[in-house]
Amino acid sequence: MYQLTINSLSEQEFLNQYWQKKPLLIKQGFRDFEDPLDANELAGLAMEESIESRIITNQNNDWQAHHGPFEDFELLTEQHSTLLVQAVDHWHPDAAQMLEPFRFIPNWRIDDLMISYSTPGGGVGPHLDQYDVFIIQGEGKRHWRVGMPDSNLKQFAQNKSLLQVEQFPAVIDCILEPGDILYIPPGCPHEGYAVENAINYSVGFRAPNQQDLLSSFADYVIDKEAGSTRYSDPLLETRESKGLLSTTEATEVKQLLSALLKDDSLFKSWLGQTTSEPKHEMDLMPPEDLYTTEQVAQLIDDSDEIFERLGGTRAIYQSTDNEIILSVNGQNFLLPKTDLAVVKLLTDDVSVTAEQIKSSKNSLKFTQSFTTLLNEGIWFC
Ligand code: SIN
Ligand code: CO
Repeated sequence: MYQLTINSLSEQEFLNQYWQKKPLLIKQGFRDFEDPLDANELAGLAMEESIESRIITNQNNDWQAHHGPFEDFELLTEQHSTLLVQAVDHWHPDAAQMLEPFRFIPNWRIDDLMISYSTPGGGVGPHLDQYDVFIIQGEGKRHWRVGMPDSNLKQFAQNKSLLQVEQFPAVIDCILEPGDILYIPPGCPHEGYAVENAINYSVGFRAPNQQDLLSSFADYVIDKEAGSTRYSDPLLETRESKGLLSTTEATEVKQLLSALLKDDSLFKSWLGQTTSEPKHEMDLMPPEDLYTTEQVAQLIDDSDEIFERLGGTRAIYQSTDNEIILSVNGQNFLLPKTDLAVVKLLTDDVSVTAEQIKSSKNSLKFTQSFTTLLNEGIWFC
């Protein structure tokens, strides 16, 4: 539905020259852009308990942040205010389509679609994000400034839920019009203020840090009751100093730990589970009558069916020596290598036809896994 043109760059050229390196203004990245929703619909989403939303106001340079759900929109004043709604791709199928042109960056790196509506002068102020973002201009116009990372820039809390950064020199200073896109790498300071009522779409990414990874891996190991091998030293020799923990012993301990990370199946199962975990609620609609595996095999055989993937679904796969780990929304499915083609289809495309996946109807592991996914409402037909 949306087609991305990155100026005159190919996707690979964009990755080589700009991705995680420097910001880029993409004029008319989406030609003839049509908003998938309007401000009223966005406000409707911000009234829902299960959807994360905020209103930021900046009247007379007094920055205030208010958290949803909202019962009314008095705070969204005619000027100097912004409504932000997280993970709209989980709730709005048409909006979810906007993530698709960015899937030249792999599924596991893509986070969600945040949508904002700002009134003239409104914005969230100068700030840094830790993740890459593409900001797409929908309805209206917004004035953006973007700088390069600078470790000397001081961050400060405007109030307890609004972190900003001091003034910075801009390398991009532009007014975005509908269909224009800004790419901003992590750590680049930026600020955008609406020139007229404006809708902006932020395609955000994920990049775990070592702390996140270690703590999540430790939880997984405990959960799976793995990692019970204990330190041992059958070749212990007497030493001159009682206090010394030798470098050899430290190395042994390090090896004990890294043996767990080197267990490919454990490591990849954890990695798939953790990277496919959604951070926001899903709009799951399981079928009233649950499918049996036999019914699913039959459905796949019926060439008219189209299977759609629920918006916000995180679908990732990895290969190990002897199987494929399909990870969907924090759940792992172990499949034989012969199911690679169908797994690719399901993770690469948001919808597949029965015809496309027909050849897998005889794979019991696949039909069982797909039955679970259909019964949970993650794929539906
Ligand atoms: C916004 O749309 O106001 C915020 C986007 C951002 O700066 O990350
Ligand atoms: Co930002």
